[in-house]
Amino acid sequence: MKNASIGAFDSGLGGLTVVSQIHNYLPNESIVYFGDTGRVPYGSRSNETIIRYARQDINFLKSNNVKLIIAACGTVSSVASSAADGLDVPYVEVVTPASKMAAECTKNGKIGVIGTAATIASNSYKNKILGINDDFEVYQYACPLFVPFVESGFVSPDDELVIGIVKRYVEPLIKDGVDTLILGCTHYPILAPAIQKVLGDGVKLINTGEAAAIEIKRILTENDMLADKAGESHFFVSDTTQTFIKTSEVLLGKTLDFDVKKIDIEKY
Ligand code: DGL
Repeated sequence: MKNASIGAFDSGLGGLTVVSQIHNYLPNESIVYFGDTGRVPYGSRSNETIIRYARQDINFLKSNNVKLIIAACGTVSSVASSAADGLDVPYVEVVTPASKMAAECTKNGKIGVIGTAATIASNSYKNKILGINDDFEVYQYACPLFVPFVESGFVSPDDELVIGIVKRYVEPLIKDGVDTLILGCTHYPILAPAIQKVLGDGVKLINTGEAAAIEIKRILTENDMLADKAGESHFFVSDTTQTFIKTSEVLLGKTLDFDVKKIDIEKY
């Protein structure tokens, strides 16, 4: 079991930001990644649909005998935790670790959250943060255009179009006076340089993938499940593999040297 892979899934490619953090914190671990590129985005769908999709994603990863499953998607983490009910391996989502990290970081108690429409409507991060300390103030905004921007490769902080859209969504956080901002969707770390440019260096950005990777390391260490030799990662998608390869270069900042396979997720 120690050398089994970690299973990670996302509605599409944003979860690769979580994969890159797992590689940073746990370089020996191999990963089986599923990106539901044929059904992305999840963030604008009903909770029932997101739960059904998440169940299928989890079933696919289970069929690969993974030792832990990470929902590398802010939307699934926010509204579809029930999809993991009855799972016999540890399940990690991104909301809890990122909320804890934000609560530890803030000095003035004002925390911002940005995410998909479904994530923000669920109040998942807000409830979690207020559960830690109900004196905190939480300001949340949905940023529906960020995912298509990232998936299209529009991410540079030197691009006026990118800065324009980032300003439109995150400028209110300056008035709110937040000193900490959770990037509540796994696509958003790719826009971090542009977001930081608009908000200034006084605002600490929380990368949900980093918080989740630290949590995974804790769970694997405590349960004596850390891999003791480096393994091979495998990537799967539900639509054309070509788009995945191109966009993964934007998300991971490097070319994937692994195989990507297309699967029929409706079978799971
Ligand atoms: N990566 C997904 C998330 O973290 C966003 C994409 C989507 O809407 O499916 O919420």
